[in-house]
Amino acid sequence: MYLCHVQHLTSQEPLEEFRQGEALMLSQEATASDTKKLYLESYGCQMNFSDSEVVASILVSDGYTTTRNIEDADLVLLNTCSIRDNAEQRIRKRLTEFKSLKKQNPDLVVGILGCMAERLKKNLLEEEHLVDLVAGPDAYRDLPNLLNEVGTGQRAVNVLLSREETYADIHPVRLDQGGISAFVTIMRGCDNMCSFCVVPFTRGRERSRNPQTIVEECRNLVNQGYREVTLLGQNVDSYRWNVNSKGEILNENEITVNFAQLLISVAKVSPELRVRFSTSHPKDMTDEVLEAIRDYPNICKYIHLPVQSGNSDVLYRMNRGYTRAWYLNRIAAIRRIIPNCAISTDIIAGFCGETEEEHQETLSLMREVGFDYAYMFKYSERPKTLAERKFEDDVPDSIKGRRLTEIIELQTACSLRQNQQQIGQIQEILVEGPSRRSQEQYCGRNSQNNVVVFDRKEVVKGQYVHVKILDCTSATLLGELVHFENSALES
Ligand code: 5AD
Ligand code: SF4
Repeated sequence: MYLCHVQHLTSQEPLEEFRQGEALMLSQEATASDTKKLYLESYGCQMNFSDSEVVASILVSDGYTTTRNIEDADLVLLNTCSIRDNAEQRIRKRLTEFKSLKKQNPDLVVGILGCMAERLKKNLLEEEHLVDLVAGPDAYRDLPNLLNEVGTGQRAVNVLLSREETYADIHPVRLDQGGISAFVTIMRGCDNMCSFCVVPFTRGRERSRNPQTIVEECRNLVNQGYREVTLLGQNVDSYRWNVNSKGEILNENEITVNFAQLLISVAKVSPELRVRFSTSHPKDMTDEVLEAIRDYPNICKYIHLPVQSGNSDVLYRMNRGYTRAWYLNRIAAIRRIIPNCAISTDIIAGFCGETEEEHQETLSLMREVGFDYAYMFKYSERPKTLAERKFEDDVPDSIKGRRLTEIIELQTACSLRQNQQQIGQIQEILVEGPSRRSQEQYCGRNSQNNVVVFDRKEVVKGQYVHVKILDCTSATLLGELVHFENSALES
């Protein structure tokens, strides 16, 4: 399989290449030997990676520099994920690997950030003896204080969730300096309460970020050479800014900026800037958003629209707020308004009480929609969620596994078919860098988010090029350059 070097996530769920956790670093290495060094590792979704850039910014302002080498670190932070049990297990395993580091350097401080910190709170200190510091997703401004506390020999915890915190004024330190694609968080938290999901408990109530700060951040990114932003939120369709020009907070129904309007403002920052977003929610996605995607060439023709199940009763138990028919209606709206739009989804196999017939309906919905890509999971019961309290996790693991395999096989065949249909097309690609396989081959993405691999010739990262698609696998398109000049985005 060809994989691009540039990490590029398309869902709340990480790609395989991110699952092991990724050491994030600044290119500026420590200049003075007495500055404290931070090693930061991120797990989970795009939001976590984006948060890590906020954390880096806060700690760089506090005098830290970052290091790629964990052995040099004075402070090791793991930004963690709780979405499924195996995500947490992976982090616990990683912590055991730090034992020898602590032995070598007893002053080493180890901190847990993110969703697992929020879920387990101070219990983490008892369960994981190596951990000195626990900070939840809304507590990062407090990190310098927490580190001071740790410096006095205490263990420090802040897991307070906030209704206001959006880190709007913090300029994230981009951890891939010289990169071309950046995440920009537009909202935090989630109010949906899907019954399987831990996120409302780990990331708190939904709140939107000031649109001016979002547009300004995107403008700065363009000035730094970035060519793509992904606007992030747990449910971007419910983005709303309720503050008027006098700074007065309006009531719930008086929206001054909605998601469609925000998308357009970001698209107008520069025609050379590609705009992506994630994640949409089928119950909230409006035609106005679809029309914005259609009308602005630099808003990518790609929507990630998690369905979770193809059966309306399962969707009801999941508390998703829509039926199979509603979902299919939203798909029809996408096809009608943006005919060349790619669609990906998330699917859970073996949710509580899922019968064989209900599972078959997921397969039939997949056939009907023909997703370009899917992130597929076995249901994993999470403590405190509605499903844990209300339903029994009664689908045996072997059946969950078999259903997941059927879902994956169907999707792989479908992705291959969708990719084959692109053979012969000439597509505009934003070049991301060398492919995993060879320095001689470069890769990039088309607007629809397919990875395209081609012989490098003289192209450079960040350039828009045209590539003729010659071949494909189910995961990648293979092509050849048809010309190399910078070109305006296609209409
Ligand atoms: N078990 C399995 N998958 C889950 N997801 C969220 N919670 C769970 C869970 N408890 C999946 C959903 C979601 C994606 C980010 O992760 O498909 O859209
Ligand atoms: Fe992201 Fe937290 Fe959800 Fe994991 S649990 S996917 S880190 S929001």
